[in-house]
Amino acid sequence: MEYLKFEEQVNALLKKMSLREKVGQLNQQVGPCNEEDMKRLKDAVRKGEIGSIIMAHSATAGNDPQQSINMKMYEELQRVAVEESPNRIPLIYGRDVIHGHHTVYPIPLAMSASFDSGLIQQCYRCVAKEATADGIHWTFTPMLDLCRDPRWGRIIEGPGEDPLVGSKLSEAVVKGLQGEDISKEDSLVACAKHFIGYGASEGGRDYHRTEISDYSLYNYYLPAFRSAVNAGVATVMSSFNDINGQPVTSGYHYLTEILREQLGFQGFVISDWDAVHQLIKQGVCETEAESVALAIEAGVDMDMADGHYINHLEESVHSGAVPMDVVDQAVKRVLRIKFTAGLFEHPYSNKETLDKKEHLKIARQMAVKSMVLLKNDNQILPLKKSQKIALVGPFVDERRALLGSWTLDGCAEETPTLLETMIDKIGKDRIFLNKDLNGLYDNTVETAAQADVIVLALGESEKVTGEARSLSDITLSKDQIELIKTAKFTGKKVIGVMFCGRPIAMEGIAEYLDAILYAWHSGSATANAVCDILFGDAVPSAKTPITFPRRTGHIPLYYNVTSSGHYVNGYYNENPQYSYNDSLSSPYYPFGYGLSYTTFLYTDLQCKNKTLSIEEIKKGKKYTVAVTIRNTGDYDGEEIVQLYIHDKVASVMRPLRELKAYEKVFLAQNEEKQVVFELGKDELGFYNSQGEYIIEKGEFEIYVGSNCLTENKCSIFII
Ligand code: GLC
Repeated sequence: MEYLKFEEQVNALLKKMSLREKVGQLNQQVGPCNEEDMKRLKDAVRKGEIGSIIMAHSATAGNDPQQSINMKMYEELQRVAVEESPNRIPLIYGRDVIHGHHTVYPIPLAMSASFDSGLIQQCYRCVAKEATADGIHWTFTPMLDLCRDPRWGRIIEGPGEDPLVGSKLSEAVVKGLQGEDISKEDSLVACAKHFIGYGASEGGRDYHRTEISDYSLYNYYLPAFRSAVNAGVATVMSSFNDINGQPVTSGYHYLTEILREQLGFQGFVISDWDAVHQLIKQGVCETEAESVALAIEAGVDMDMADGHYINHLEESVHSGAVPMDVVDQAVKRVLRIKFTAGLFEHPYSNKETLDKKEHLKIARQMAVKSMVLLKNDNQILPLKKSQKIALVGPFVDERRALLGSWTLDGCAEETPTLLETMIDKIGKDRIFLNKDLNGLYDNTVETAAQADVIVLALGESEKVTGEARSLSDITLSKDQIELIKTAKFTGKKVIGVMFCGRPIAMEGIAEYLDAILYAWHSGSATANAVCDILFGDAVPSAKTPITFPRRTGHIPLYYNVTSSGHYVNGYYNENPQYSYNDSLSSPYYPFGYGLSYTTFLYTDLQCKNKTLSIEEIKKGKKYTVAVTIRNTGDYDGEEIVQLYIHDKVASVMRPLRELKAYEKVFLAQNEEKQVVFELGKDELGFYNSQGEYIIEKGEFEIYVGSNCLTENKCSIFII
């Protein structure tokens, strides 16, 4: 995406602006809640002292119920900006449209489980249409914080633990939101956040410190942002955290040297809420004026919500603390996005009426493709519609949690429950209900006695996921675990449907269940998708984008780990002598894992042109890896074929597995296909601590299979 084609208009406008107006463009204020707010905001807009308004009323908009958008208020403020302010510069309105607007899609962690960029992009195209119709210009999405710690509530907002999955999600969301042409009225300006390293918050505690080497930054945390910049993301949000004692909000190395100079980002950077002020709390400055100087010099162009830029930046320029050119560059970056996004042409909402039924259909497809079948002993799933079901548990009637966190404009009341949907699917007579958790044993046993199987509706509330919602123990509530055991002791087959945001520690839970469908918080169509899968109207295909540990105490546990000196690693095999003395240390469910109703056989893995020189690779020559997959089961289905590499010997330790390619293939029963991957420079090199991309000689093991534990391998060589 080219953001430099309006430089003439930008420079001409800049020349006409006073310093006060320039600083105004860098000031994002909180939206109006009442007439008093309106008066204050109108006065400031009329003077050109505000460049953007965030349509939120609290610093944790994902958790606190937000007022719906009062279009009249925002249209009136925009009218003042474009008709009465000194240079008629339109406001840009931002809102956290994270995984849906009125129609809510699965949480991003769940969408990542689909490994389906095309469908994700389609979802975000619908999101953009709904949001722009409500007058929103800009959303603070995609959240690209890779995370290896499910205690962190915000893990649900991101792509999980893998850089490639993160990069693919990043590209799909940016392209879906911004569309083919960002200047169109139904294009929503995207914002890659939180740059950078927020997902490494120590202990999974939100807003906490991080220790990230540049080696890890370049190879692990940065790829998703590189992908967003390459996809043309127009804005980036700086993150709250510090890295090794350097707050990112005042981190020139991160926001300018890496993001702008190395990645080539041309848009503008906005701070997180109040993050400029927080530099004082982080102890790198004493006064608000100093926090402003640090942030804008580091590369934070726009200041969210704390008003420090509008209150102190003019005086900082007059005193010489901040050079005029630094302000001019920031203003130019903001103006170029406003021009490129077409705000001067269409500052108001397009008020388009949309076919939300179509969006809901796509949301249902996305939910089906996101739900992971973790267990299905003796193929008890899919159920027959003639079977009698004991439907038990606290999520039988649940609506709100199914939408997940960060759904400001979703409507829980319109979200079907599992009970309602199951009745639609198989009729009331076949469902025996026990919703309450009291009388745990006798009610459940009694209910179960009348049924063929028990379906448990389990999960976690959306209130323990998202921002400022970390958990020290990632498991189900004790009463739900008791319920699971009770169900098991009835002697009936027990199916657990888990409406969770984060992956939970499965030890002491999964053993009691004969089948597990991980339904996540999958948005408006969650319950429909669950019933589609439970009764065989859809065949599950999703894979875990994040490791499911046995216990909370095993965190961090992730698949792209390096070897240790003593033995390979608990992830890839058990070694009781070196792991924990009180438990196995391998994952309960590994990365990339998920079952189907059918089975797939991998054969004939071969690496053609097994040996290439570094020069040949640098010139673009590639290795070809082919594998044959056959559907050997009783259902048509989709398989996400995954290719991992292991760089066996390198100048620094490299991970035992790195996902470098994947492809989702549809296979009818008995159908066989060959899947071919190409590996070249982009897949076989890595970044050193200076950010240089290097390729080294040696053997690479290539693993191709249905999850990261596959032993189906061949080798290629770089000479
Ligand atoms: C919050 C979040 C950020 C969000 C912003 C605006 O603190 O960290 O993700 O976009 O503020 O609500």
